[in-house]
Amino acid sequence: MKKLPLLIWVITAVWAGSSLAGEPSPERQTTLRNLLNHDCGACHGLTLKGGLGPALLPEALAGKPDELLISTILEGRKGTAMPPWQPFMSKDEAAWLVGVLRNSKPRQ
Ligand code: HEC
Repeated sequence: MKKLPLLIWVITAVWAGSSLAGEPSPERQTTLRNLLNHDCGACHGLTLKGGLGPALLPEALAGKPDELLISTILEGRKGTAMPPWQPFMSKDEAAWLVGVLRNSKPRQ
């Protein structure tokens, strides 16, 4: 049974890898949407039309590359109020949020 720890490690690694890639789980999507509404909304406006931070509506983000937006979310922007969110989400989750923003409908 000496190989059992290795087997567990491999299964865990594969499982962790698959949960990091692609779409977040439905529970995680709810958490990220709440984060967007509350935390991001605090600066970018509850309807994401802008406030302390710029508007994050699809037309405002059009023409800005995903990579720029993802790294802005993960690392923040030095010298501005935009904080880094890396401690709270993975790169895939930031990419998913950018997708949500690109498809977001203005809310009333
Ligand atoms: C404390 C205020 C604050 C919070 C909270 C905040 N932001 Fe920002 N954000 C800013 C500011 C200010 C900028 C503009 C930085 C600049 O001048 O380049 C910005 C810029 C951005 C940009 C780049 C927009 C562009 O047009 O280039 C994105 C994307 C973004 N924020 C997403 C988010 C997301 C997603 C969250 C929540 C997870 C969030 N922000 C939370 C203040 C904030």
